[in-house]
Amino acid sequence: MKRTRILGTGFYVPEKVVTNDDLAKMMATSDEWITQRTGIKERRYVSEGVGASDLAFEASRMAIQNAGLTVKEIDFIILGTLSPDYTFPGSAVLLQDKLGASTIGALDIRNQCSGFIYGLSIADQFIRTGVYKHILLVGTEVHSTGIEFADRGRDVTVIFGDGAGAVVLGPVEDKERGILSTHLHSEGKYAKKLWIEAPGSIYHPRMTQEMLESGAWFPKMDGKYVFKHAVTRMQEVIEEGLQANHLKPQDIALLVPHQANMRINQMVSMAMEIPEEKVYHNIQRYGNTTAASIPIALHEALQEGKVQEGDIVVLAAFGSGFTWASAVIRW
Ligand code: UT7
Repeated sequence: MKRTRILGTGFYVPEKVVTNDDLAKMMATSDEWITQRTGIKERRYVSEGVGASDLAFEASRMAIQNAGLTVKEIDFIILGTLSPDYTFPGSAVLLQDKLGASTIGALDIRNQCSGFIYGLSIADQFIRTGVYKHILLVGTEVHSTGIEFADRGRDVTVIFGDGAGAVVLGPVEDKERGILSTHLHSEGKYAKKLWIEAPGSIYHPRMTQEMLESGAWFPKMDGKYVFKHAVTRMQEVIEEGLQANHLKPQDIALLVPHQANMRINQMVSMAMEIPEEKVYHNIQRYGNTTAASIPIALHEALQEGKVQEGDIVVLAAFGSGFTWASAVIRW
């Protein structure tokens, strides 16, 4: 059986830069607090009328071009987001239309911060079994239209940013190269530790004035709880991926973790004795872009020449669900 390779990457972030000082004008926070606790200095916000599929479109165009392909050669679209343009249909079909792709399948997945690796795993199965040759996988988020710019929501608001990252995947004959494994996990009993409660189909009606006024449509997070689980689960799932391929932490050339909090990633790498220079960070510039963070980081790491052919690259994520996942790739 063939393996799956990343043929090209792309990213897009909106032009509007919002610094920690900008947020401090709207809520009781400070550059010092945000920098110390998260490593974030600034993030990007969309302008009015721009949705998740618009960011995805720009990132996808770049990834398809960098893969040396045209839209006509893409056989399937997978899009990970927790912030779709509309409740339904999903944003993958909007992307299919914006790209001018033919009537290929377009799948939305809802796995929050782990969405990109879940999507990678799905794409890997389709490509290895020969069902599809080229798959476009995108992570895209617009958080800025759904967070609370007030003291009440400050813990979540300061960490999120908007952006999109994309990859194009295709088959590789060399069995030593490409995606070596993916490992996916979930623990739904913690669903309410990081969630948006409303609107929801369990409510009759699913949207009320009271929900609007109480702020039930804003994300809520038990930050400390999520932090602790993230540090433990990310280590576990990286170890799981390494062991499945008879590799050790020292074999990792580059770890591209989900960019939720720089402190989480520093604790994971320290515990696993992965040197700082082998761990990619760009949270300082974009904040947490959820499903988009890994493909954006991967794209930038490649642009900076941090990955050579044959290198072991490990992706790892943890987030709402809880869900967590890893991918081990030989570049
Ligand atoms: O991508 C999905 C996964 N998400 C994550 O992995 C996020 C994980 N969690 C975190 O990154 C951290 O929990 C945060 C950065 C969100 C918060 O850091 P923390 O050290 O856990 O702070 P905390 O929530 O325990 O709050 C400490 C204090 C509280 O004040 P008191 O009770 O000590 O007076 C908060 O009210 O900091 C206060 N606080 C803030 N102060 C200034 C909370 N948010 C802010 C803020 N600015 N933005």
